[in-house]
Amino acid sequence: MPLVLSDLRADHLENPLALRRVTPRLTWRVRAEGTASAPRAHRIRITAADGAVAHDSGWIDSDATALEAVDFEGAPGSDYRWHLAVRDADGAEVEASAGFGIGLADWDAPWAEPVQERVLAEGPLEIGPEVFAPAADAAPPGERLHPPRHLRQAFNLPAAPVSARLRISSQGVHQPSLNGRPVGDGLLAPGYESYQHEISVMTHDVTSLLREGANVLGVILGDGWYAGRISILGRSAQYGDILRATWRLEVDLPDGSRHVIRPDASVRSSRGPIDWSDIFIGERHDARAEMPGWDEPSADAEASEGWTPCALLPVSVPLVPFVGEPIRRVRELPAQRILTTPAGETVIDFGQVMAGRVRMRVRGERGTVVRLEHAEVIDAEGNFLDNILGVNKDQADEYVLAGRPEGEEWEPLFTFHGFRYVKLIGYPGTPEPEDFTAVVIANDLAQTASFSSSHARLDRLVQNTIWSQRSNFLAVPTDCPQRERAGWTGDLQIFAPTAATLMGVAAFLDRWLRNVRVDQDAHGGIVPIIVPMPPAMDDPDRPNAGLGDISDAAGWSDAITIAPWELYRHYGDPRFLRDNLEAMRTWVEHQTAGAAASLPAGLDPASLSPERLARQRLLWNGRMNFGDWLAPSTLDGSRPEAAGLDEFSAIMLAPQLTAELTGPLFQIRSLDLYAASAEALGDAVTAAQAREHAAAVRAAFAAEYVGDDGRIGPDMQGIAVLALAFDAVPDEIRPRAVARLVELVQEAGVHLDTGFVSVPFLLDVLWDEGHADLARALLVQDTAPSWLYEVDHGATTIWEAWNAVHEDGTVERMSMNHYAFGCVVDWMMRRLAGIELLEPGYRRTRIAPDLDGVLDHCQAHVDAPAGRIAVDWTRTGAEARLTVEIPLGVTAEVALAPGWTLDDPTELTPGTHTLRAARTEEGSAS
Ligand code: BGC
Repeated sequence: MPLVLSDLRADHLENPLALRRVTPRLTWRVRAEGTASAPRAHRIRITAADGAVAHDSGWIDSDATALEAVDFEGAPGSDYRWHLAVRDADGAEVEASAGFGIGLADWDAPWAEPVQERVLAEGPLEIGPEVFAPAADAAPPGERLHPPRHLRQAFNLPAAPVSARLRISSQGVHQPSLNGRPVGDGLLAPGYESYQHEISVMTHDVTSLLREGANVLGVILGDGWYAGRISILGRSAQYGDILRATWRLEVDLPDGSRHVIRPDASVRSSRGPIDWSDIFIGERHDARAEMPGWDEPSADAEASEGWTPCALLPVSVPLVPFVGEPIRRVRELPAQRILTTPAGETVIDFGQVMAGRVRMRVRGERGTVVRLEHAEVIDAEGNFLDNILGVNKDQADEYVLAGRPEGEEWEPLFTFHGFRYVKLIGYPGTPEPEDFTAVVIANDLAQTASFSSSHARLDRLVQNTIWSQRSNFLAVPTDCPQRERAGWTGDLQIFAPTAATLMGVAAFLDRWLRNVRVDQDAHGGIVPIIVPMPPAMDDPDRPNAGLGDISDAAGWSDAITIAPWELYRHYGDPRFLRDNLEAMRTWVEHQTAGAAASLPAGLDPASLSPERLARQRLLWNGRMNFGDWLAPSTLDGSRPEAAGLDEFSAIMLAPQLTAELTGPLFQIRSLDLYAASAEALGDAVTAAQAREHAAAVRAAFAAEYVGDDGRIGPDMQGIAVLALAFDAVPDEIRPRAVARLVELVQEAGVHLDTGFVSVPFLLDVLWDEGHADLARALLVQDTAPSWLYEVDHGATTIWEAWNAVHEDGTVERMSMNHYAFGCVVDWMMRRLAGIELLEPGYRRTRIAPDLDGVLDHCQAHVDAPAGRIAVDWTRTGAEARLTVEIPLGVTAEVALAPGWTLDDPTELTPGTHTLRAARTEEGSAS
């Protein structure tokens, strides 16, 4: 049997239609079946649409499964095929091929701008308590929002096409159709990005939707992120208040001719059945106003009233190819039960917190209005509780029945909600569960890992994390899918290692990182705390528009060093480093300059010795940031400093206590990753300089903040964890710092007191310092704050705060769907299941199952670039059996805890291995 080739990808995608890079990275997987020997050489030829060879790598002696054809540059707008040949050690050859297209670099079509009313700019301009309070006296949405526009362009084709592409973009969200059929299965296109700098173009293969003769292109345009209510403020019209669309329909006919259809004077627009639609507020659809056939060729549609010509305007913002998985319907969940609550309300329970919307079947009288309100929780009494308050955060949809005797079905088009429960108002007749389906929407990323074990609650924790990722990898990586839906950079960096383990995030985060860089450039080198940064929070004339003093923040802005590094580690693609190295450099230089320019509040330079002043000038500690955000002891009243604080001040206590330290700690982190990135790219000089600088910052940090007794700064768990994890504690003090951390954990009754930015490192630090048992105890702790408390209290996602639901069932009005604390899954995969990446792309992997721990059995896998790495192990008493699967292109070492011996060699080559281990000594690793 020969080698088997699969998963041919260009820039991490299967057959992408429009790449942004003209030199794609090509990757593939090789499997050996039967007697095939390992791959020894490969050759790639790239051919253009006319069959001409555009690149030939020649035979390359290597077992690598990736190639960047550096001397190939694809022409914008062209399609290519690439042909891969792989030779094994015996000279046997196999071949496979796949396609890719290069997107357009320039755009030559105008905007079509329908006649419309301007979107009203409304909602708060500053963050204050009212942003999170019930919206007082807001006028009904119908009085403030306008109907999405329907656009149609009729055209004739002399013949059915041999090939056709629709490239389409919009200011606002769009839904295209051709001859009455939806184009593609994407939703909410083109997604969310820093629209003032660039807007994505979606590319569709529409060959089968076109025909000879009359055709019609339809486009529905809604406010979306561009003009609708967004982010923490819930303010509208931030990027613009007029909706527009542009397209290029490229049709290749059998005679070899190409017709390009762009918006022109023939485009007409009208309102349709959607009265209003907003991502935050919701959508109202009046089925009585539907326009059957509006996007099909028919004389009626042409002649009907209300269709007006569109203005044609030049496109001045750069339009760029959208690269990656679109937002799609990724799951459907049936209603689990319909409750009548103690308050007498009808509430549908879908059994799962998610991001999406409801598809409903209904039959009733024409004009009946059904309203669906969405929330993530029910309260202690079992009543529907709207856990997200705030201006324009309604999350409510309405449907007006046409009164069709056979019944009608509806799902909103341009909105989504964060919810599990739906309050149903005005439904005619008795609602039955089968009439309601929750449609989960997300960027359609592949799941690339699994974890299933003898510990059902830990399994649930992993599932909850996957659900939170699915709910928040939606357009951009967001904090939550209901209240803010914002690209908080901190949340993403915290979760990045887990995100890249659980799902194929390469293209998604690559796209977001472009936005990070664009926004960084627009902010003079500062990486904003939210990307895309909503303009309303970014107004230099209103310094309090955003978060007051916080514009660049430790552990948030550092996403620019952390996220590319994680992508490089997981996918082994150096371009993640190459593309971001300059941005990393700008960021660490900003930290350095900031360190020199400011001292912590209250520190008078005149009162400092020259040595201290010199040290302080090295530390990036003079600016407010979020500190170890949401550290439990700052919120639960257990710290003396918290006495008498109101809710808002309590939330700001963690920043007050810890920001001075998280600043320099993340400065060290960013310098380290910048150095590592430069080194990986072969720039040893830059790497050495950054390391030297990091060493100086470490020394200054230690002298200023690390006590001889091992207490660091405010003596809190999170700070100890970060200082140890980032190696900011001198060797001679380290044992005392570890002992103090252990004491702090114990004093907290074996509970974590780590906030957002330190929690990813807590269990690793304890484990690496010889306290594996304490790490395990924290993992399975089930009183709050803890991971399993959430699981035991009904969580189906990861909560924003550990005690979002209290012991007595009282529910906090917080997000139930914030992935940050799910970062522990990366640890569970490495330390419990035992699949640990050692070299970028998993080329070298450690198999280190926790045979001394809380699991008797674990089955897990990670889909590495080269193929699946899987473990399946069972411990019975003092014996363990392991089955390990290693793909071609990966080598692995087995590392068992001290006391365990393996009957087999510890070095694993590709293939499936069954191993036996026995515990020869009593006692575990710690
Ligand atoms: C968001 C976070 C975010 C934070 C900044 C919150 O309102 O939901 O997850 O990172 O603000 O501290």
